[in-house]
Amino acid sequence: MEKIQLGLLFGGRSCEHEVSVTSARSILSVIDQQRYDVHLIGIDKLGHWHLGNNIDALIDGKAVLPASSSASANDEASKEVSLSLYQKGNLTAVEQIAAPKLDVIFPVLHGTFGEDGTIQGVFETADIPYVGCGVAASALAMDKALAKQIFAAADIPQSPCQIHTRFDWQSDKAGVLSSIEQSLGSPLFIKPANLGSSVGISKAHDRNSLISAIELALEFDNKIVVESAMENCHEVECAVLGNQDPQASVVGEIIPGAEFYDYQTKYIDDKSKTMIPAQISEAAAEQVRELSLRAFKAIDGSGLARVDFFVNKDSGEVTLNEINTLPGFTPISMYPLLWQKSGIAYADLIDQLVDLAFERHRANAALKRSF
Ligand SMILES: Nc1ncnc2c1ncn2[C@@H]1O[C@H](COP(=O)(O)OP(=O)(O)O)[C@@H](O)[C@H]1O
Ligand SMILES: [Mg+2]
Repeated sequence: MEKIQLGLLFGGRSCEHEVSVTSARSILSVIDQQRYDVHLIGIDKLGHWHLGNNIDALIDGKAVLPASSSASANDEASKEVSLSLYQKGNLTAVEQIAAPKLDVIFPVLHGTFGEDGTIQGVFETADIPYVGCGVAASALAMDKALAKQIFAAADIPQSPCQIHTRFDWQSDKAGVLSSIEQSLGSPLFIKPANLGSSVGISKAHDRNSLISAIELALEFDNKIVVESAMENCHEVECAVLGNQDPQASVVGEIIPGAEFYDYQTKYIDDKSKTMIPAQISEAAAEQVRELSLRAFKAIDGSGLARVDFFVNKDSGEVTLNEINTLPGFTPISMYPLLWQKSGIAYADLIDQLVDLAFERHRANAALKRSF
């Protein structure tokens, strides 16, 4: 059987660059070398693309360098330059992604430009199968304000919330504040609409902290989401895998080790813990799984997603927090761990994701594009 030529795309311009590199490293270490030839494509923090076969040469301290200056004295140098895909509007560069004749791309990118539908659009334009959600699902999941509206239409319980724009805030601060306080109470969570990793998110307990939180969130986006805090809750996560007939995993729990699961606790302190299964009733876990599938279908998901919830410690009430279409993929990340506990080993998970990418591509290719 001919080997599958797989492009593993990692790094990226988002604040989750390092997580992505770790995910790529672990995928590379377990992927079935009999089935795949892996082509590494590292995107540095400036957005420059580098192609090569040695992950260390691509990233260790050099990932932040532009292609021209990281070119080492080997035969990969020319390819690195040809894959510099960072000039806006340079459509010929899209074809150059296919330079190594890739059969499929696995983008282990998180956040902006990786998880938000933009790179997925490049793959669609280049007609290359890719792992994970398509353009619309990725973009919807990334925009917390749009996602809220889709989930409300699908009757999925969420925390009470309001969406405000920079324009709303600048034109009537007092009005925005009183509307938030009257309908959402306190404490509150304030988030930029389009970001991840808890960046720009704060919890506010009073009017002053609410104002600072709004100002902070508006530094990261022109649109913000303000939510009532879900207190006294388990924070749980469920993994979804599939295209038309997706499956949901066992449910896991995050124990943040801080007031909430902020950037520091997620990536720096190592204080947060995960627990599988989550310490919730079987009925609540079943509801989490059902709602995960409903949320996945509501955004028209495909491939994979991790869906995050709050479960009230007393009532067992389940509230959706968010859906992530390219969740962390390191060996200690919740997504692969949840599938491991559900009976799918890490390497098999990669195979299934690649198969799903081909399946979706075939289904789309069979569609009539004109008449
Ligand atoms: N409404 C809420 N109530 C309680 N905690 C929340 C709420 N919204 C967010 N959080 C806390 O903040 C963290 C980050 O928020 P989240 O919406 O998941 O953003 P991100 O996309 O950055 O992960 C969550 O993991 C949770 O700990
Ligand atoms: Mg989150």
